[in-house]
Amino acid sequence: MSEISNVRVLALVGSLRTASVNRQIAELAAAVAPDGVSVTVFDGLGQMPFYNEDIDTPDGVPGSVVALRQAAAKADAALVVTPEYNGTIPAVIKNAIDWLSRPFGDGALKGKPLAVIGGSVGRYGGVWAHDETRKSFGIAGARVIDAIKLSVPFGSLAGAAPADSSELSANVRDVIGKLVAEVG
Ligand SMILES: Cc1cc2nc3c(=O)[nH]c(=O)nc-3n(C[C@H](O)[C@H](O)[C@H](O)COP(=O)(O)O)c2cc1C
Repeated sequence: MSEISNVRVLALVGSLRTASVNRQIAELAAAVAPDGVSVTVFDGLGQMPFYNEDIDTPDGVPGSVVALRQAAAKADAALVVTPEYNGTIPAVIKNAIDWLSRPFGDGALKGKPLAVIGGSVGRYGGVWAHDETRKSFGIAGARVIDAIKLSVPFGSLAGAAPADSSELSANVRDVIGKLVAEVG
């Protein structure tokens, strides 16, 4: 097998709270990624305005959105790590999808492999949000890898931090390995 070098994965986290478990899972992904793979958590999702076609013009795009689009353009693949809110995608991720879906047919993640994982307190670990995020990012133009699945019910962590769970670490490492294998 050829050695991996310089693969950049952009991680988008669907929870803005400081102690977010999903953010910790994204950071775990960065920690367990193999040599030659960098996973960078994008920090600006909370600063972006709601998608608005009136400001999605060459002169009007806010700096926070330019930053997201540039980070996506530089990435070889994307990893979404999100909880479920009220049975579906948190607004912060849906807003990112909408901004990344434009220019129509030519968004910055167009054709790039993208995986969706994450966790929630519910017994199915947020699987509704994960399925719908896959659907929506696929419509937005990313190459969603449907076979990569990891929906973590937080009860299964027994109160431990994600980084302290060897099972979760192994599963996240597997996710990154499969995602990177899709980078062509
Ligand atoms: C507005 C809101 C809606 C939520 N809806 C759901 C839900 O539908 N299903 C679920 O399993 N958990 C739900 N939760 C609980 C989240 O799973 C929990 O807050 C989780 O810790 C969020 O992830 P985080 O630690 O990354 O912030 C909801 C939480 C909030 C704040």
